[in-house]
Amino acid sequence: MSQADEVTVALLGGGTVGAQVARLILENAQDLAARVGAPLRLTGVAVRDDSRHREGIPDELLTTDAAALAASGADVVVELIGGVEPAGELVAAALERGSSVVSANKALMAERGADLHERAEQSGVDLYYEAAVAGAIPLLRPLLDSLSGDDVSRVLGIVNGTTNYILTKMDEEGADYASVLADAQALGYAEADPTADVEGLDAAAKAAILATLAFHTRVTLAGVHCEGISSVTAADIAAAHEMGFVIKLLAIAEYDQANNSVSVRVHPTMVPVNHPLASVREAFNAVFIEAEAAGDLMFYGQGAGGAPTASAVLGDLVTAARHKVMGSRGALSSTYNDATVLPIEDAVTSYYMSLTVEDVPGVLARIAGVFANNGVSIAGVRQEGQGHNARLVVRTHSAREGDISDTVAELQDLDAVSEVVGLMRVLDTEGS
Ligand code: NAP
Ligand code: HSE
Repeated sequence: MSQADEVTVALLGGGTVGAQVARLILENAQDLAARVGAPLRLTGVAVRDDSRHREGIPDELLTTDAAALAASGADVVVELIGGVEPAGELVAAALERGSSVVSANKALMAERGADLHERAEQSGVDLYYEAAVAGAIPLLRPLLDSLSGDDVSRVLGIVNGTTNYILTKMDEEGADYASVLADAQALGYAEADPTADVEGLDAAAKAAILATLAFHTRVTLAGVHCEGISSVTAADIAAAHEMGFVIKLLAIAEYDQANNSVSVRVHPTMVPVNHPLASVREAFNAVFIEAEAAGDLMFYGQGAGGAPTASAVLGDLVTAARHKVMGSRGALSSTYNDATVLPIEDAVTSYYMSLTVEDVPGVLARIAGVFANNGVSIAGVRQEGQGHNARLVVRTHSAREGDISDTVAELQDLDAVSEVVGLMRVLDTEGS
């Protein structure tokens, strides 16, 4: 470990985010030293290919030996490689060696968070990952520190820029999913393999991290119900629009105090056009936190990109470095509450359901009977067209997801119902 007159920093990864972090450390050295109380010294930058020059990073700092750099005993190791392995082993080695760790890796924290926190605890060092959720937007520190005296009941928002960009273009230009995705890839918003973004996995990892911090309960990726946007059609978006909604991919984490349970999910959701989340366009992110004493808080900004993400990494780095200078450490996330993580069947949501039906006497009563038998209360019904292919659009009150699924299965068996053509959850704004 270095002297307290400097803080050594080992950087694992020199890509989109890593290169910006290195640039900021080197360009802002004087200010950072004043804020930390000692200069930061970059000891190395691990990459796969050290023959390629990286703008702003001195070539002599590049190394392909990430394992040696991670275990070098630097005061702070910054992990910006991504993915669960080898990043996980590198972070574990750094923590064991007594280095504080800063990471932007949501996949790693959602999957191995418990183990890594335990290692940080044992070594008495910091483990920060503000950049892992919604890039530049401060969310984790507000949950960990600023709201630690309050009771958070719900966290919901848009935490994936790629899908928000795609849904915005589909909504505003009437374009179909495949052509907007191709556009997003050409512009560099979406990866060549966009699966993690469009199937909701990226947002699910972020939701797991948010829920863990908000409800003091360990939530992993396995505890998050996840549906992406690949099956959202231009017709779904047009229909939502007509009814005064936009479709957004929301991450929702809710706490039920009475049962000490949490529900965490990611799915396309109809959001009323006058709700603040409806006006979050393109690749921006926005998150609401609802807390008992604080009320509603909204956080908005850039959820991705090299420089915005590096801003969050630098914030963590300065905090961890200050602690090294002071010989102290900050709080790690607590999971004392240990609430039950509910399966999706037990989540409570409201729906818009659209059915094609026979327009003859008694059909509406039979359909209403199916809802009633399954304990699902109808909030409103609208009929469009007549004859064999009349369309009924039913809005439900909040109901158990399991009861909604049973309702749909029974409706599909009714002779009078040709097809359940649309099924979309609606944002419950009662709590916000
Ligand atoms: P990236 O551009 O792919 O950079 C990854 C870096 O890691 C590259 O420099 C790569 O080396 C290096 N690397 C990969 N495997 C390695 C290994 N085994 N040993 C040594 N070096 C290795 O990724 P990124 O976009 O910067 O993302 C980094 C992290 O930030 C990820 O966890 C990501 O989820 C997170 N994040 C990114 C964004 C964003 O907008 N990009 C936003 C929020 C969070 P080469 O350069 O030689 O290939
Ligand atoms: N791929 C993510 C997004 C950025 O589209 O928001 C990194 O978390």
